[in-house]
Amino acid sequence: MPLSGCTMLCVLPLLLNTVLGFKLCPSHCLCYESSDLVDCRSRGLVLVPPSVPHGTWLLDLSGNKLTEVCTRSFIGLWSLKILLMSNNSIQTLQPQSLSSLEFLERLDLSFNQLRWLPQDFSQSLSSLQELRLDHNLLQHLDSASLGEFKNLRKLDLSYNRIRAMDVRAFSGLSRLSLLDLEGNKLNVLKDGLLSRQQSLEVLLLGHNNISAIETEALAPLRSLTLLGLQGNQLQHIRFKTFLKLQTTTTHLQMSSNPWTCDCELQRIFAKIHRVRHLLVYDYKDIICHAPAQQAGSSLASLDSQLCITETASVLVITITVMLAVIGALVKAEHNRKNKQAASDAESDGQEK
Ligand SMILES: *[C@@H]1O[C@H](CO)[C@@H](O)[C@H](O)[C@H]1NC(C)=O
Repeated sequence: MPLSGCTMLCVLPLLLNTVLGFKLCPSHCLCYESSDLVDCRSRGLVLVPPSVPHGTWLLDLSGNKLTEVCTRSFIGLWSLKILLMSNNSIQTLQPQSLSSLEFLERLDLSFNQLRWLPQDFSQSLSSLQELRLDHNLLQHLDSASLGEFKNLRKLDLSYNRIRAMDVRAFSGLSRLSLLDLEGNKLNVLKDGLLSRQQSLEVLLLGHNNISAIETEALAPLRSLTLLGLQGNQLQHIRFKTFLKLQTTTTHLQMSSNPWTCDCELQRIFAKIHRVRHLLVYDYKDIICHAPAQQAGSSLASLDSQLCITETASVLVITITVMLAVIGALVKAEHNRKNKQAASDAESDGQEK
């Protein structure tokens, strides 16, 4: 569709905007001058409209038909603090399309069709505090695209297709308090990924494909209050990994994983219970997947049963070992007596 081409349609309106943009309101939009709010919701727009008043602090473009955001689309909008573009069909953010928005605090790009983020995405958005990119088609996060969001507090990347993330993807986001990665395709939570997230309070990783959490992965998180791990592929966890969470109180969500309920798992959860600052929020809903005889039972309902067979086998082994030892001792004593008797008889014979 040639009409959506940036080069065709962006340049002229841009010029118009530069010349006339101070007082005009884009056609089809509603401009509320007293609050500098421009409402262009659901107007069938295919491009960011020109002539948005320069003093605008909130521009709402949600529910339109935007497929791309052109270079310098928002030029001159120095006062813009909130830009809402959810529920469009945006596939491309052209380089520098957001570069004039130095004071933008909230950007909503949710429910679009973004497959990747441009390398310079975070440049010049240094005031951004909240970024919504949920419900897009992102597959990979590299270290550059989120790099400069120094003031970002909330980052929503849920319901994308993220399979892999550069271990430094979040290394510039030291003020992050909420990171939502729910509904992606992550397999492993890697050491070092969250090394700069000392302020992170909420980490949502539910409904991924996580089967392993590396031992140091959670260690840097000093402020974490909620860790969502429900709906993953966890069969087992290590106590040490969770013990590394040096926080005041952290709620853990762990249900809907294919848990292998053995004595060790039961002990790990018992140990987690004893750590005062760790609370398994949905412990009652932790359902066993394996072994077959426990499948479908909740771990809580099995109480300490899983360790009974183990305790019993330990007992059997102990008793067996004890019996063997006693047997050996008895035999040794018997032999000693026999030898003694033999040597006594021998010395009697010599005396005679
Ligand atoms: C999910 O993880 C398993 C390993 O636990 C892997 O075999 C499988 O390919 C993963 N699926 C996806 C969609 O990544």
